[in-house]
Amino acid sequence: MTVVERLSFKGFSRSNNGQTRFAGQPYKLLLVANPKGGVGKSSLSVLLTAFSGLERVLFADIDPQQSTKLAFEAMFGEEATSNSLLEITNLGDIEKVIRKVAGQPKRTILIDTPAGMTPDAIAKQPLVSLLLVPVSSSAVEMRATFNFISGLLAKNYTVPILIVPNKIDDNSDLLRIIAEFGKLPCMLATPIPYDKNIEKLLAEQQFPGQLSDLRKAAFPLIRSINNAIKSPHLPASNLRQID
Ligand SMILES: Nc1ncnc2c1ncn2[C@@H]1O[C@H](COP(=O)(O)OP(=O)(O)OP(=O)(O)O)[C@@H](O)[C@H]1O
Ligand SMILES: [Mg+2]
Repeated sequence: MTVVERLSFKGFSRSNNGQTRFAGQPYKLLLVANPKGGVGKSSLSVLLTAFSGLERVLFADIDPQQSTKLAFEAMFGEEATSNSLLEITNLGDIEKVIRKVAGQPKRTILIDTPAGMTPDAIAKQPLVSLLLVPVSSSAVEMRATFNFISGLLAKNYTVPILIVPNKIDDNSDLLRIIAEFGKLPCMLATPIPYDKNIEKLLAEQQFPGQLSDLRKAAFPLIRSINNAIKSPHLPASNLRQID
């Protein structure tokens, strides 16, 4: 496949293989967002980081509740957490972070956002590599999430969107999500099952489990995220399953 730049903006570029660069240097910025509270934004952030380890990820928790940061402290300790923490408090600082990180060995950036972010605020950030939108199969969560994604698309959002089914118990949960989002030009990740370790970690900031268990749980998800980044060219419509 020929790689062509399909977005070029103030030194930033996105190729048709999904790679984002600044001044020619690659970076990967994963933004986790959904205005609906409690859908699993922080849980997803924790799972992704548990897999890669804080030595390979820089993260920002722009939620004043700081539950992702606290969960990282429970898993990795305070020192490792503070070494990987990007001290930004709003999305307007994304550009600053990318300038600093592009081309560095630790060039994966993960940003967890709070509930209540509007499509407008998210759409103002076109330099994101992949937008991750967790959602469970609850009707209320799916409706709010559908409205959020529709709002982004109405603003001609150029960042590829990966919907991440969360708290999935069985096939019927997944089928409900496919039915709800089936007509959107988005990608669908391998689902995150309901997981007691994640529940405890986020709800109580305690981590009684083994990191290796979380890593195992995260593996299929990491693979679908990597594949989603590599293939952001979407069909004109319709949800696409990415394994
Ligand atoms: N896969 C999962 N398995 C079990 N419990 C989960 C899972 N994902 C989320 N939870 C539970 O749901 C709650 C909400 O999840 P989380 O805090 O990740 O959502 P959020 O979208 O970050 O919420 P907020 O909008 O308040 O930041 C957590 O306290 C956690 O206990
Ligand atoms: Mg959260």
